[in-house]
Amino acid sequence: MKDYIPGMAFCMDDYARSAAPVRTDDLDFTAFGTRPLSAAGLRCLRYMCDVENHTVCYLRDLLVTPSHTDPEVTAFLTMWNYEEYWHGEALADVLAAHGAGRGDDHIREIRRAQGWRDRVAPIKQALLAQAIGEDFVAVHMTWGAINEWCTHAGYARLIEREGHPVLTEMLERIMRQETRHVAFYVGQARARLAASRRARRLTRFALRRYWRPVGSGVMAPDETRHLLSYLLAGRGGERTAASIDARIDRLPGLEGLGLIGRATGGLTDAAGSPTRLVPDADADADAA
Ligand SMILES: [Fe+2]
Ligand SMILES: [Fe+2]
Repeated sequence: MKDYIPGMAFCMDDYARSAAPVRTDDLDFTAFGTRPLSAAGLRCLRYMCDVENHTVCYLRDLLVTPSHTDPEVTAFLTMWNYEEYWHGEALADVLAAHGAGRGDDHIREIRRAQGWRDRVAPIKQALLAQAIGEDFVAVHMTWGAINEWCTHAGYARLIEREGHPVLTEMLERIMRQETRHVAFYVGQARARLAASRRARRLTRFALRRYWRPVGSGVMAPDETRHLLSYLLAGRGGERTAASIDARIDRLPGLEGLGLIGRATGGLTDAAGSPTRLVPDADADADAA
């Protein structure tokens, strides 16, 4: 996985003008008929599809916060949501090629299944975020950076594990768009964290206390466990997890959190190799 941070430039105007649905019309989806994905890979793809389709719901919860007052942030979120919508559609096409298509009824069912906590989430988030003020935007941008890193890494690992030429081509196209999402979030997070000690403290606290793997708030625990085991357990996965943690370490004030290592610690891959448990840096510091 490449490192996106050094020399990474992001131009909002260029991004807004070039944001587009990921292209899939030139891909031969019938190839999945003769060479389908593995059952484990397909299960990961279902997870990814559901989570991409949930982006607009995450956006709902973010537009009630101080993030909506920054025009650059809202311009980005507009295009980001548009591209993520098409990622969900592209993944759904691969599922459909396996006879596992899921339409609007499935999406509606997932949203309805979130229950009353989801109904009040925007109210809670609005009150909390308004009480925090401008520094909430740093938390949002950092959260976004970490989740985009994880998403990009997840697609890269799925490519490695499945080795399917059509899936590879499609996911590489999606990953090129995810790279631009990373660029925006990381640039914003770095600048906002560097500018405010309070933002650094709040962000560190929020991540350590509340961050969970992408999609785990929406998907069943077994599905999240499967995704993490298939993509981030074992030797190759452990390396990927460590590289994401190393990137988080380089954001101002966030060194040593070990979020991904702790989320994947103790999981085993198909060969039964356990993933190393990463100690909680803040817990160690508290105990010292
Ligand atoms: Fe995406
Ligand atoms: Fe993204």
